[in-house]
This record gives sequence, C-alpha cells and structure tokens, in this order.
Amino acid sequence: MLRIDDLIVSYKAQKNTIKAIGPLSMEIGSGDIYAIIGPSGCGKSTLLHVLGGIIREYQGSVLIKGDRLDPKIHDIGFIPQGFGLLPWKNVEENCLLALNIKGKIVEDNSKQRINAVMNKLNIDSLKERYPNELSGGQKQRVAIARAFIMNPALLLMDEPFSALDALTREDAQKLFIDIWNQYKITTVFVTHSIEEAIYMGKKIVIMSEGPGNIVEIIDNTLFNVENLGEREEYYKLTKHIRRIIKKGWKI
Ligand SMILES: Nc1ncnc2c1ncn2[C@@H]1O[C@H](COP(=O)(O)OP(=O)(O)OP(=O)(O)O)[C@@H](O)[C@H]1O
Ligand SMILES: [Mg+2]
Repeated sequence: MLRIDDLIVSYKAQKNTIKAIGPLSMEIGSGDIYAIIGPSGCGKSTLLHVLGGIIREYQGSVLIKGDRLDPKIHDIGFIPQGFGLLPWKNVEENCLLALNIKGKIVEDNSKQRINAVMNKLNIDSLKERYPNELSGGQKQRVAIARAFIMNPALLLMDEPFSALDALTREDAQKLFIDIWNQYKITTVFVTHSIEEAIYMGKKIVIMSEGPGNIVEIIDNTLFNVENLGEREEYYKLTKHIRRIIKKGWKI
C-alpha cells in the first residue's frame, strides 16, 4: 500500500544541515499495524512527519498505491503526542472535526459509525465535555475515536500512550487493538516501549541510530497476546530488540 524508497530527510539548523533519516526503504502493507522503535533521535518522528505530509522536502520517493504521497489527496489520520484535541470544542465536536474538515456530510451511515466508535471507546457520556475537563486516558480515547470515525487510509500515531500511567495505558492499548480488529485501518505508530511494540505491533520495525534506517522488521507472533509476562518468547524477543537498539546498529 505504501512504498518508501531511498528516503533521506535533512533539517537545516543555523548553518548546519542535520541528516535525520536515511537512506531508508520499506514497504507498508494494507491492514497491518507497524510499531516503529529505535534509539532516541534516530528519526522516528521525522519519518512519521513525512508520512503525514507535514515534512514535504525530502529525497527519495514515498508512494501510496503508486501515487506520490499527498495529504490533500490521501486520507491520513495523525494523532500527535499531545492528542491534538481542540480545547474550544467539546468531545462530540472534536470527534466530528475530521469529517467536517474534509467537507464530508455526516450521513446516516457515518452517524452509525460515529455512534459505534464512541460507544466502543466508552466516551458516549463525555460528549458535552471540553478537553480540559477530561483525564489523560479519556483524551486519548477521544483522539482514537476521532481517528476511527475519520476512517483514514493510513493512521499515524507518535508515542500515543506514553503520557498515560501504566494501568490507563494498558486499558487504552487494549481498547485500541479491540477497535482496530474491527476496522483494520493501516496503522504506523512510534513507541519507546518494547512491551508496547510487542503487544500492539503486528510488525515491529527497528530503526538504527540517526540518521535512521531500518535494521530489522519482525513479523510479530505475540501481537495482541494477553499476559505477555507469562510467555518465554516475550522475554526472548524483548532481549533481541533491546540488544539491537543498544548497539545502535548502523547498516
Ligand atoms: N526541527 C528540527 N530542526 C533541526 N533538527 C531536528 C529538527 N527536528 C528533529 N531534528 C533532529 O533530527 C534527528 C531526528 O529527530 P526525531 O525527532 O525524528 O527523532 P526521534 O527518533 O523521534 O527521537 P525521540 O525518540 O527522542 O522522540 C535528531 O537528531 C534531531 O535532533
Ligand atoms: Mg520522536
């Protein structure tokens, strides 16, 4: 669905040019969840910004279904670290925003989807509240609801659960997988947590130290497995990933 070839991204900072990524090549298949993990500063957020059309200057090519990636043409959902809710809109308005921005009319079938998604994420009762009246976990659920209501071709999330405490995070992760299993939106998310990558990533993409490229893509058999801590394979995989990240491999 998505093909990245020889991507190189550089930032201009004062008189210097900082090469943040590349050359990086990979393919992202439809209906999968990709967890991107790698050392701090290796270019994970930069990669997500390219996929979200926020960074437009780069070398190489990024194609969606054969066409050059363009957020004006392709439906791309982005959940930034701070959840991206508008403080002056209530929960319901925030959830509908994606549809309104794209000028889509809220028809009966989308109304059904909106209700189903809000119900699944347990935010029906919060419809009238404003973001500053919500807990971190509730905000996160609203952000996820908005993404699934918008039904993008590609959903991007930058460290989606890192601001939540451990228990809330586990609940949010479970809810995310639950709703994802229903709608199967192609998702790419960045995480610092090896456990989160293993629980939520159908594929785990390990990036090298900056300028980042791909060291390994793991077909993860432990995706959506509960009580990971009781599985020996979990510890093996954790060790493997940790070893690669610590080495900060360059390839
Ligand atoms: N706006 C910018 N101007 C200059 N350099 C930048 C800018 N944004 C990022 N960088 C640099 O590009 C590199 C990659 O940054 P990026 O934020 O993509 O890393 P990251 O993998 O997301 O890191 P972290 O895990 O710490 O969030 C880093 O060396 C960073 O300092
Ligand atoms: Mg980052």
